[in-house]
Amino acid sequence: MTTGYTVSQLRAAVADAVRAPSLHNTQPWRFRLHDGGIEVAVDPLRGLPATDPTGWGARIACGAALFNLRLALAVAGTPATVRLRPHPAEPDVVARLVPDVPRRPTPTEKSLYSAIAHRFSNRAPFWPDPVPAEARWRLGEAARAEQCWLELVIGASAVNALAEVARSAHRVLERDPAYVAERVEWIRSEPAPDGVPAAAGGPQSEPQDLLPQRGFGGRNRAPGRDFEPEPLVAVLGTPGNTGTDQVVAGQALQRVLLTATDAGLGVSMLSQPIEVPGAREALRMSLGRFGTPQMVMRIGYGQPGRATPRRPVDEVLDLPVVPA
Ligand SMILES: Cc1cc2nc3c(=O)[nH]c(=O)nc-3n(C[C@H](O)[C@H](O)[C@H](O)COP(=O)(O)O)c2cc1C
Repeated sequence: MTTGYTVSQLRAAVADAVRAPSLHNTQPWRFRLHDGGIEVAVDPLRGLPATDPTGWGARIACGAALFNLRLALAVAGTPATVRLRPHPAEPDVVARLVPDVPRRPTPTEKSLYSAIAHRFSNRAPFWPDPVPAEARWRLGEAARAEQCWLELVIGASAVNALAEVARSAHRVLERDPAYVAERVEWIRSEPAPDGVPAAAGGPQSEPQDLLPQRGFGGRNRAPGRDFEPEPLVAVLGTPGNTGTDQVVAGQALQRVLLTATDAGLGVSMLSQPIEVPGAREALRMSLGRFGTPQMVMRIGYGQPGRATPRRPVDEVLDLPVVPA
């Protein structure tokens, strides 16, 4: 008979959960122990009102953190049963995890868990080596295992059409001073526990770039160091677009990212065409897909990079008050 999770189990699993990606590395999550269950919630104090007015990005990030949490608990032999948005009166609580029957982790859980520490956004140009069919298949399977779809955009004309939508969304966003101010506010040129370190920002964009790079103050490009001419671009999507669908998408995103890491692939995310409603619809139509695109990714082999900082675990925990 299993009772609840303990504070030490919570702490250990949250150390892995916070390695998840988040828009501008805001880390918009909180974790608590409640009636023996671990709960994941959006932190409303770490929102991005101009960039993410609907909270889509925060729910994607919390979904990704939830996926890491599931893996960490499974690998510790204490897997969880998950209920999404368990308290209708508290929509910010995105998930509740209670202990399932203890069992050994599966080989897939072990390899995805090992990838958590090695995953990071790689915004540098990739090498020209193509991504083999087996790895492409694994990425699609990763999305399907989490009830999402992953469309690999194949062929120069399809990639060009997507790139055009992405560039136009980028221009729309960059015309909004509040959006620009928020992006600049989260660039870090000094060591900090959150935000995007300028060193992780990728090279400065140039007019010949096919895909728009969000400007995070990256370095100037060495001559000839252009982006790969034929990037592998993938779009992750969900059948619906409720808050719950977005949490599901966050879990699938993290599963795809960890699967890519495990296959030795680098990934950078591009969400400008998701953030601009007209662009998102144009993207959906260009894919000929039902449902809603939730993230665009550029995938390839490249120079390994480095992990970005995270806030300490204690800063994101809400622990029960123990009576004196
Ligand atoms: C919802 C969401 C949207 C994102 N959009 C972009 C983007 O448009 N451009 C980009 O370079 N990175 C994007 N990222 C990646 C974050 O900037 C990145 O996860 C964060 O800075 C932490 O770094 P890490 O991924 O290396 O751990 C996005 C991440 C999430 C979760």
